[in-house]
Amino acid sequence: MNDTLHPQVSPPAAAADEVLSASGLRKRFGTREAVRGVSLSLRRGEILGLLGPNGAGKSTTVAMLCGLLRPDAGTVQVLGQPIGADADPRKARIGLVPQELALYEVLSARQNLEAFGRLYGLGGGLLAGRIERALALSGLQERARDRVDGFSGGMKRRLNIACALLHEPDIVVLDEPTVGIDPQSRNAIFDTLEQLRDQGRALIYTTHYMEEAQRLCERLVIMDHGEVIAQGRLRELLAGLAGACVLRLQWAAAPGAELEARLRALAGVQALQRLDERTLRLTLAGAEHLAPTCAALGALGLPLQGLQTEEASVEQLFLALTGRQLRD
Ligand SMILES: Nc1ncnc2c1ncn2[C@@H]1O[C@H](COP(=O)(O)OP(=O)(O)OP(=O)(O)O)[C@@H](O)[C@H]1O
Ligand SMILES: [Mg+2]
Repeated sequence: MNDTLHPQVSPPAAAADEVLSASGLRKRFGTREAVRGVSLSLRRGEILGLLGPNGAGKSTTVAMLCGLLRPDAGTVQVLGQPIGADADPRKARIGLVPQELALYEVLSARQNLEAFGRLYGLGGGLLAGRIERALALSGLQERARDRVDGFSGGMKRRLNIACALLHEPDIVVLDEPTVGIDPQSRNAIFDTLEQLRDQGRALIYTTHYMEEAQRLCERLVIMDHGEVIAQGRLRELLAGLAGACVLRLQWAAAPGAELEARLRALAGVQALQRLDERTLRLTLAGAEHLAPTCAALGALGLPLQGLQTEEASVEQLFLALTGRQLRD
């Protein structure tokens, strides 16, 4: 961990518009500690990004936030009260879009919405109206009568989201809702989520795609190995990298492992990433390392074809915090 970044690992004091908070959540499966002391807070009118690589503990955290999994330690508060047993009405204020699609494949889109609506205790004209809105929201009006097993991945994802919104929850928790879909469906989903945020709902958006988190979320909770390694406003987190200087280096021929090792050994090199065969990204701890690095690059004996500076991103933040890429 790079302590020059000063990641804020404790959540800020409860804000008046806080709708959900978790404190010290822990969960163990056998000998594996999936979640090791996660604290976070969610406010009305925001999309909070829960970001981390595969196995970081995101889904386990989400299951505890929604009251589906009992934590070994720690508490979850929804609308100011601890989340309780199965029949706790506060759970109905949450809509969960699970990572694994939860749809009845042999039923039509409309029948799926009906089934989920009834699970939430909706019926009659109220349910009929909500179903029409859900079909419009998910862009599935034309396919309402078609069976789900004939849908594309993107259509299933959109329907999965619509099912979780039928009861108009205040809190919407989405667990990797865009895995395996086309950019058009992704944009449609983002538009829907931004609308929900603008209506004053609170959203948690779980992903391992840092570009998505960067585009959609003003605040981020970054997890790794079951722990929160940084949290805060996106721009503040990236400002922690402000001193860092990111270079994209392109060579005419592929740089070998030996050259990579020599680059890593240069003073001020915080991280090195291979982007493709001939391109590396070098993160320097500060601009003062720029001139000596350029001089050293000249002495390496392999002529550079291009050198660009880049804006710091969530990807670099994760790399600087853990020394690893998010998609290892
Ligand atoms: N029911 C379970 N039984 C045993 N181990 C589990 C169970 N659920 C999760 N784990 C383990 O806990 C760790 C965290 O898993 P989790 O699903 O929460 O991660 P994740 O961040 O959601 O990952 P992904 O991005 O792959 O969805 C993993 O090592 C996983 O194997
Ligand atoms: Mg998961």
